[in-house]
Parts: sequence; structure tokens; C-alpha cells
Amino acid sequence: MISGKTKLFALIGDPVEQSLSPAMHNAVFKALGLDCAYVALRVPKVMLADAMAGVRALGIAGLNVTHPHKVSIAGILDELDESASSVGAVNTVKNERGKLTGFNTDGAGAVRALEREVGKLAGRRAVLFGAGGAARAIAFSLVQAGVELTIANRTAVKAQVLAAEVERKFGTKVALVGIERRALGEAVKRADLLINATTIGMRPNVNQTLVTADMMHRGLVVNDIVYEPLQTKLLREAKRAGARTVNGLGMLVQQGALAFEVWTGKRAPIKVMEGAVKRELRRRGRL
Ligand code: ATR
Repeated sequence: MISGKTKLFALIGDPVEQSLSPAMHNAVFKALGLDCAYVALRVPKVMLADAMAGVRALGIAGLNVTHPHKVSIAGILDELDESASSVGAVNTVKNERGKLTGFNTDGAGAVRALEREVGKLAGRRAVLFGAGGAARAIAFSLVQAGVELTIANRTAVKAQVLAAEVERKFGTKVALVGIERRALGEAVKRADLLINATTIGMRPNVNQTLVTADMMHRGLVVNDIVYEPLQTKLLREAKRAGARTVNGLGMLVQQGALAFEVWTGKRAPIKVMEGAVKRELRRRGRL
């Protein structure tokens, strides 16, 4: 129910219509009986500063931030939590009486989702595909969790920059590999964990994958952060190889759960969030 005291939360980005976050967060507010509501607001790139003034003026209590604002918003907030400053990108904002603080829950969300499926990640060897916004957050969190990391990205220089930043922060070596089949195959052969943090395989490119079944092995855990579709080509190939697969729903839910915890200080009911996301996907005929 919306009342005179309802606290408002919002997703800002462009586009936002397809987002699952409103369904997920409103389900939590309802389940916990919180007088809060969550909406998706399309904010064009050039309107970001105005939108932030609006957030302050209207007292919007918290935000999720998505493409194309994740990096640019970092420069206009009052403060950045360490999770956002190390990565250089923000996906969550908390508004405390007009003071806006940026957080990044993507990396910790990805690690939590994986650990929930396969146990502690410390000591495992991972190959991470990507060096964009999502991959950057995940790379920092994987190394923080004690993972031995290899980064594979089409644009080598982006992977080099990311590796250097992670090495500087944690003092551990990060390996690099190209995305051509042979080199990638060798790296995957030595890995326990493979994570796709690129947009490869995302609708409409549903038949794209960097690795095929013959390059994967039993005992490998393969995680795709893409959740549209849920069963990506990568995960289908992984299954054929007898590898264990983890789809993108876990990270989506866990990053949302961590955002909820940032805003409210309360523990998020994961099952409620999962149920809401699945219900919404089913409603759209995507599950
Ligand atoms: P996000 O914020 O979702 O991570 P992004 O910053 O645009 O999005 O990053 C997209 C990632 O997918 C990048 O790692 C990109 O590789 P480049 O750094 O070389 O651009 C990767 N990517 C997207 N399409 C790709 C493709 N067809 N082949 C290889 N890599 C691709």
C-alpha cells in the first residue's frame, strides 16, 4: 500500500523497462510489511545531474543504477563506499538526509551467488570473461575471496588495466589470456571456475559463446551472469561437457539483496526475491 509516509526507491538507467528489480524489491517490501515502493525511472545520459538533484529534492531514499550511468554517477555523488571506489562504478546509492553515497554490490553479489552454489571460492582457479563494468566488479570480489584469477577479454588493454588495478589493490598476480580458441582452451583446462561477465550470449545473440563443450571438462563450474536467456549457449555447452552450471539469476538476486541491506540495514529474504524474479520471468514467458 502507498501511504503519505511511503519511502521511495528507484532504478535509474536507460533503458529500464525490462528490469526485474521493481518486481524483486516490491515483493520484499510487501513480504516484510515495509511502507516502501520501488519504481524504474528512465534517465537519459544527459539528465543524470538533474536526476540527482531530483533525488535530493524529492527525498528518494535509495537508488539502483544501471547502464549508462554506473561510471559517470561515481563522479557526482557525495561519497563512495570502498566497494564502488575500487571498481570505479556504482550500482547502489543510499540517500541519508541529502547525502548520497555510492556502493557497488555486483561483485559481492556474484561471489555470494557462486558460494551459495559451490561453497567457498578461496584457492580456486577462475577464468573470467570480460573487462567491462560487470567484469571489473566481479574481478575485485573474486580476488578478495581468495580466487586465483585469469582474465580473458577481446580488448586486451582493458584486461591489462583491470589486472594491474586488482594486483595493486590486493598484491596478488592476475593472469591474462586472449579470447582465441587455443589460448582460451588451455586456460579453461587448468581452471575450476569459468565466469562469463560479457554480454556474449545475451538476447538477441543467443547463439554466441567464447567456449564450446570440447573446451570444458567435468568438475568445472560454469557461471554466466547473463540471465536473458537463462540458459545461454555457454551453459548449454557446459552441460554437454558434464560441467556444473550456475545461471545468472543468483547474481541478480544477490546484488539486489545487498542493495536492500545497504538501504535498510535489514537482512534480505533471498527466497522471496528469487520467487518474485521467477514469477516475473514466467509472466513474460521467459521461464
Ligand atoms: P557491462 O557493463 O555489462 O560489463 P560493457 O562495459 O559494455 O558492459 O562490457 C561488455 C563486455 O563484453 C566487454 O568485456 C566486451 O569486450 P571489449 O572490452 O573487448 O569490448 C565484451 N563483449 C561484448 N561483445 C563481445 C563480443 N562479440 N566478443 C567478445 N567480447 C565481447
